[in-house]
Amino acid sequence: LQNKIKNPFYHLVLSVTHILGFSSVIALGASVICNKIPGLAPRQRTICQSRPDAIIVIGEGAQMGINECQFQFKNGRWNCSALGERTVFGKELKVGSKEAAFTYAIIAAGVAHAITAACTQGTLSGCGCDKEKQGFYNQEEGWKWGGCSADIRYGLSFSKVFIDAREIRQNARTLMNLHNNEVGRKVLEKNMRLECKCHGVSGSCTTKTCWTTLPKFRQLGYILKEKYNHAVHVEPVRASRNKRPTFLKVKKPYSYRKPVDMDLVYIEKSPNYCEADPVTGSMGTQGRICNKTAQQANGCDLMCCGRGYNTHQYSRVWQCNCKFLWCCYVKCNTCSERTEVYTCK
Ligand SMILES: *[C@@H]1O[C@H](CO)[C@@H](O)[C@H](O)[C@H]1NC(C)=O
Ligand SMILES: *[C@@H]1O[C@H](CO)[C@@H](O)[C@H](O)[C@H]1NC(C)=O
Repeated sequence: LQNKIKNPFYHLVLSVTHILGFSSVIALGASVICNKIPGLAPRQRTICQSRPDAIIVIGEGAQMGINECQFQFKNGRWNCSALGERTVFGKELKVGSKEAAFTYAIIAAGVAHAITAACTQGTLSGCGCDKEKQGFYNQEEGWKWGGCSADIRYGLSFSKVFIDAREIRQNARTLMNLHNNEVGRKVLEKNMRLECKCHGVSGSCTTKTCWTTLPKFRQLGYILKEKYNHAVHVEPVRASRNKRPTFLKVKKPYSYRKPVDMDLVYIEKSPNYCEADPVTGSMGTQGRICNKTAQQANGCDLMCCGRGYNTHQYSRVWQCNCKFLWCCYVKCNTCSERTEVYTCK
């Protein structure tokens, strides 16, 4: 919730919705809201004006992606925050790094997920359940499509039209972003689940109906985190005539292989994220909480990049050893414990 409140885009849409009511937003607020949202590309602004109902869902989807990013990277030096210009999708990393790759993929997946969920719930105009998956009988496996199948193709294409519309420059970073957006959406598509229900007397499965549902977003977070760990370094190949980057290839000597569809790709090495640096968008790790004994990324040695840490002591007080006394009250002792928290210098 904290993050939702901090996100200016979300806040704006919600407050306008709150004041005007949803239908008035559509009637008169669209162009006002759409002009106030920071960092929209021209084409995105047009979409925003024609589909103000969808823009709210897009904002929720992007926020879901950002929250998942923060969860997946909470123990790292880079914690999914960045310095720099505000956009609809939060502040952005300027370096075309693995971290940028993850961010783009998770937001593209988040928007497709949120749009599809809204269609299924009937809260978005122009879409609903997947009509192709209705009433059809699967003879081989003995079940029939029923319920409300999530219309994933609608969500994916909406995400593609809106998210990809911000890639207006013709450079290597654009190729990288488009590739990673697609990875996010493909991961979602591949993880759609089939849910079934049996019908018949006392649980006997005389007929069975099935429908497709969205995966839990957390699951996509873990899959993309794994892809982040194995992200592939690529470089652009330029057209011989106009020297514009036209596609990406794996950056290895004598290799002309294109990156695999499902791999996250990056064009620049990551900074170490130790110090705040507006050029790279790194926030640095000063003030981050670290673990004195852990040897992992959240250990103070690694997290603080050798600068050392500050120790804060405080005591934690709580009720303990509670007993139920006849009759009728509970008697507790007060326990306390001194704890220490460490933060990077
Ligand atoms: C990430 O770390 C910075 C300090 O480096 C901190 O200001 C920020 O609140 C952190 N963000 C999250 C989501 O924990
Ligand atoms: C710090 O790390 C150690 C070892 O990994 C772990 O047992 C401990 O619970 C951690 N402490 C905190 C406060 O997270």
